[in-house]
Amino acid sequence: MSAVTGGAPTGRRAVVVGGGSGIGEACAVRLAQDGYAVVVADRDREAADRVVAGLPSGEHRAATVEVTDEDSVAALFASADEDGTGLHAVVNSAGTSTLGAVKDLPVAEFRSVLDVNLVGGFLVLQQAARHVVDGGAVVSLTSLNARQPGGGMSAYCAAKAGLAMLTEVAALELGPAGIRVNAVSPGLVVTPLTAPAMDIPGVKDDYVANTPLGRPGTPEEVAAAVSWLCSSESAWMTGEVMDLNGGAHTQRYPDLLGHVNRMLGVS
Ligand SMILES: NC(=O)c1ccc[n+]([C@@H]2O[C@H](COP(=O)([O-])OP(=O)(O)OC[C@H]3O[C@@H](n4cnc5c(N)ncnc54)[C@H](O)[C@@H]3O)[C@@H](O)[C@H]2O)c1
Repeated sequence: MSAVTGGAPTGRRAVVVGGGSGIGEACAVRLAQDGYAVVVADRDREAADRVVAGLPSGEHRAATVEVTDEDSVAALFASADEDGTGLHAVVNSAGTSTLGAVKDLPVAEFRSVLDVNLVGGFLVLQQAARHVVDGGAVVSLTSLNARQPGGGMSAYCAAKAGLAMLTEVAALELGPAGIRVNAVSPGLVVTPLTAPAMDIPGVKDDYVANTPLGRPGTPEEVAAAVSWLCSSESAWMTGEVMDLNGGAHTQRYPDLLGHVNRMLGVS
C-alpha cells in the first residue's frame, strides 16, 4: 500500500484569494509549509506582500485581486498559471460582512456583501474550474452562518448559504474532471474581520456559552482543515461543506443585533 501524505509534492502551485489577513493568511502559511508555491492574492496589496515576506522559503508571490471584478479574477488566474500547466490548489478566503436588521439594511449594503462573498466566490470557482488540474482541489470559506441564522446578519448569512450550495454544484460539475470542490465553514475565529464584534459586550461570552468546546477557533485550526482538503488524504471527499466551530452548530448563534442594541441603549 502506498503512503498517503498531507503535503504537496514538489512543483505544486496554490492560489490563496483573500490571503492578506486572518484565515487566508494562515492558509497561505500552511500551504507553503506543505510545499506549495503560493500566490497570495488580496485587494490589499500591502497585506499580500507582508504575508509573502513571512512565508517559509519557496517560489511564492503576491498579487492584487478584486474578487467582485471578473477581469481582475481572470487576470489573477492567467498570471498564476502563466505557463498553462495548471494549478493544484485554490483557496477562496475573501469575505466581508455587515450588520443591520432586515427592516433597516440598505439594499446597496446587502448587494455589496453578496457581491464579495457570493459573486466573488463564483468568479473564483469559475477560474479554478478553468485552471485547476485533474487531482487538484478548491476550498471556499463559507461560515457557520451558512446554516445558522444570526440576527442582523441577513446579507452575510444569505451569501454564505449561497456559497455553500455553489460548492456542491461546482463539485457535481467538476468531479468528472478530477477537481474536488469543498468548503470549510468556521464558527467564530478571532481575526481582523471579527475583532470589532469581539468589542461588543456579550458577543464572545454568548458564542462561548453556546459552544461545547468553550472557545472560539484560531486561523491556524481552519488552515489545518483547508490543508487536509487540498491534500490527497481527502481524495474521496468532494461537495462537502465542513463544519468547524467547536460544536457551535449544535446550539444557537450569538444574538449580535441584540447585543449591539443593548450596547447602544436601543430597545
Ligand atoms: N473570522 C471568522 O470568525 C469567520 C467565520 C466564518 C467564516 N469566515 C470567513 O472566512 C473568510 C476569511 O475571514 P477572516 O476572518 O480571515 O477575514 P479577514 O478580514 O481577516 O480577511 C479577509 C481578507 O479578504 C480580503 N478581501 C475582502 N474583500 C475582498 C475583495 N473584494 N477582493 C479581494 N480581497 C478581498 C481582505 O482584504 C482580507 O485580507 C471570509 O470569507 C469570512 O467570511 C470567517
